[in-house]
Amino acid sequence: MIPIEGQLRRRRKWVGLALRVGRLLWRQQQTTGQVVQASYDRIAGGYDEAWTDHMRDLTDAMLGRLVVRPGDEAIDLTCGTGYLSGQLLARGVGSVVGVDASSGMVDAACDNYPDAEFVCFDALKYLRRRPSGSADIVTSGWGLGYCSPRAVIGEIRRVLRPGGRAAIIDNSLFSLAGVLWASFRAFAEYPDALQHVMKVKFLPHSIVLASLMRLAGLGVAARGDGARTYAVDDGQAALARLRATGAAAGFELAASSEQTRTVFDRFAEIIQADCAPGPVRIVHRYLWALGVRI
Ligand SMILES: C[S@@+](CC[C@H](N)C(=O)[O-])C[C@H]1O[C@@H](n2cnc3c(N)ncnc32)[C@H](O)[C@@H]1O
Repeated sequence: MIPIEGQLRRRRKWVGLALRVGRLLWRQQQTTGQVVQASYDRIAGGYDEAWTDHMRDLTDAMLGRLVVRPGDEAIDLTCGTGYLSGQLLARGVGSVVGVDASSGMVDAACDNYPDAEFVCFDALKYLRRRPSGSADIVTSGWGLGYCSPRAVIGEIRRVLRPGGRAAIIDNSLFSLAGVLWASFRAFAEYPDALQHVMKVKFLPHSIVLASLMRLAGLGVAARGDGARTYAVDDGQAALARLRATGAAAGFELAASSEQTRTVFDRFAEIIQADCAPGPVRIVHRYLWALGVRI
C-alpha cells in the first residue's frame, strides 16, 4: 500500500498539471500551428533519415492502391520533404503541387524533387483558394491530424473533378500512446515547465476517416489501420528518435527552454522504466483511406 503522504503528493502533482493545462488551454502564447511549424522547420534536415526511410513502405502500400492516370493534376497536402509528391510524379501524373506549412520542409522538398512545385501554405487555406473541380488527385501523408480533418476533407471533395481520387494516411489518435503517457508523467513532475498544450485532431480509426469522406460526399474505395513498432536501446535513444521524426512535434517546444533538458531526461527515464527489462518499444498506430469523388 502507498502511504497516505505519497498518495497526497501524487494527487497534488496531477492537480498541478491539470491546473496548468487548464490555464494554457484558456490562453497560450503560440497557436499549435505555430509550434508544429517551428518544430518541423527545426527537424527538416534529418527528417527523411528519421521518418521517411522507416515509413515509406506504408505510404507506398496506400499509393499502390491509388489509380493514377497520365497527365493527372495532383495536390499533395502536408507534403513535408516531398516523398508522396515525388512518388506521384514517378507514377506519371502531369503535375503535382506539394503544400506544407513549414518553410524548412518545403525547402527540403524543393531540393529533393525539383520537377514538382512546392508552396509554403496552410493546407486548408490553400484548398480554399483552389477553384472547384481543379484537381484529379489529392493526397495527404502523415499530416491531416495537424489540420482540421473535417474541413480539409470537405475542401478536397470540392476541388476534385468528378472521378477524382483522394488518398490519406495518418497517425491515429492512439499512435504513440505509451510515449504520450510518459510525457504526461514527466510534465506532472514539472507542471510549470509546460508552456504549450498541443491541440491536434488525429482520428481514432479509419472508420472515422471513411465516415468524414462519406459525409463530404466522397465514395470510399478502401481503408485500413495498422501499427508499426520499432525498438531502440534506451530512453535517451527513444527521445532522440522521437525528436528527429517530428513524432514529438510540439513536445519539445511544449517545455520552457530552461527546463527542456530536465523534463526530457525525466521522460527518458520514465519510458525506459516502462519497458524494462529490455529495449524501449515505440508503437506508431496509423490509418488510411482512399476516396473517390462520385
Ligand atoms: C509527419 S510530416 C509528413 C510529411 C510527408 N507528407 C511525409 O509523408 O513524410 C507532417 C507535415 O505536415 C505539415 N503540416 C502541419 N500542419 C500543417 C498545415 N496546417 N498545413 C500544411 N502543412 C502542415 C508539417 O509541416 C509537416 O511537414
